[in-house]
Amino acid sequence: MELLDLIVTEVIPETREANTYVLQCADGTPVPYEAGQFLTLLIPFNGHEVRRSYSMGSAPGVDVRLYITVKRKENGEISRYILEHWQVGTKVRSLAPSGRFTVETNPKQSRHYFFLSAGSGIVPVFSLIKKILTEEPASHVTMLYQNHDETTIIYHRELEALEKKHATQFTRVDLLSHPMLHEMPSRRMNNGLLEQLVGAHEPKPFQHRNEKPPTLFYTCGPPSFMRMVQFTLRVMGYAEEQLFREHFTIPVLPPPTLVIDPSPKKVQLTYNNKQYEYEVTYPTTILQAALNLHIELPYSCKAGRCATCTAKCKSGEVKMSNNEVLTDKDLGQGLILTCVGFAATDVSIEF
Ligand SMILES: Cc1cc2nc3c(=O)[nH]c(=O)nc-3n(C[C@H](O)[C@H](O)[C@H](O)COP(=O)(O)OP(=O)(O)OC[C@H]3O[C@@H](n4cnc5c(N)ncnc54)[C@H](O)[C@@H]3O)c2cc1C
Ligand code: FES
Repeated sequence: MELLDLIVTEVIPETREANTYVLQCADGTPVPYEAGQFLTLLIPFNGHEVRRSYSMGSAPGVDVRLYITVKRKENGEISRYILEHWQVGTKVRSLAPSGRFTVETNPKQSRHYFFLSAGSGIVPVFSLIKKILTEEPASHVTMLYQNHDETTIIYHRELEALEKKHATQFTRVDLLSHPMLHEMPSRRMNNGLLEQLVGAHEPKPFQHRNEKPPTLFYTCGPPSFMRMVQFTLRVMGYAEEQLFREHFTIPVLPPPTLVIDPSPKKVQLTYNNKQYEYEVTYPTTILQAALNLHIELPYSCKAGRCATCTAKCKSGEVKMSNNEVLTDKDLGQGLILTCVGFAATDVSIEF
């Protein structure tokens, strides 16, 4: 398994509940990553290792230093541990950056991007916004960011600076459910407000053509926020291909109910230029069977949500019990999620 040995080089308080941690490789080598991706940290906790993923708020090509921002989750074990214990010099192990909440920019294209986030959902969104503003000067970015009050806004000063620097390209709308300043309206995102805000900020048609720039939506926030945004945008007529999401929570999956012949199947696996061969029997997943044999494949959520365990099925058939990240195009290219992937025939898999 490709592991990174990282070290905390600076701790920056963001709000009462969130800190930014600047990280670098202990041996000084750069960490290659894409804007919007996350690190999966392997944290020793109470005698065993737990995994938690944290998005990078930094953007390569814009920020010199890589950083993550951790917000305390109420009664959350690991976020509290990090906020209470991590300091300059803390060493931390991580899987290589992964995730598909990314954007391909092109300096010649003109698009309209909406970013909808709440709380710590701003972290990957901030990274993507910086990338787009820097690399796509003809595109427009509208950010709708929900918070409790003025003091809970993460990256407050950086967002203000970005707004000034890219005044014609970047529109920032802060929604506060409990503003401290009386002149600020109290606003909480719901279907009606979202429809109204998207309508107000939708792109105008290009000057010489009667068509609008393509509009894309990127969403990251608590589950109820994500569900509401997804539902409303679909009702408004936006297509699934225009909507991108990053989930921070891991669902508890019910036992799989796929119809798969329960006889053992052969898995031929290529990972890190090594070949492995093993058997797997439904309902054990391709990932779990490998982990049981101490083949250290990368994974994080084990629930079909984060894409850390993505591989390519080169031959045979894999059925998945859940998939919240791979697109139809990915599936067409043979990509699978091994954590929720079951071998329906003998298969050949390549990471
Ligand atoms: C792709 C991704 C990016 C994220 N980015 C950020 C970020 O930028 N900032 C931020 O503050 N938070 C982020 N999170 C949330 C973060 O990973 C933790 O879930 C959060 O800090 C709460 O963890 P906790 O241990 O404090 O809470 P707890 O309530 O103790 O844990 C939450 C529960 O979620 C489950 N869980 C969460 N992650 C995993 C995992 N990797 N493997 C197995 N089980 C898991 C566990 O069952 C655990 O009981 C992200 C999550 C994901 C999936
Ligand atoms: S480990 Fe997250 S999708 Fe498989």
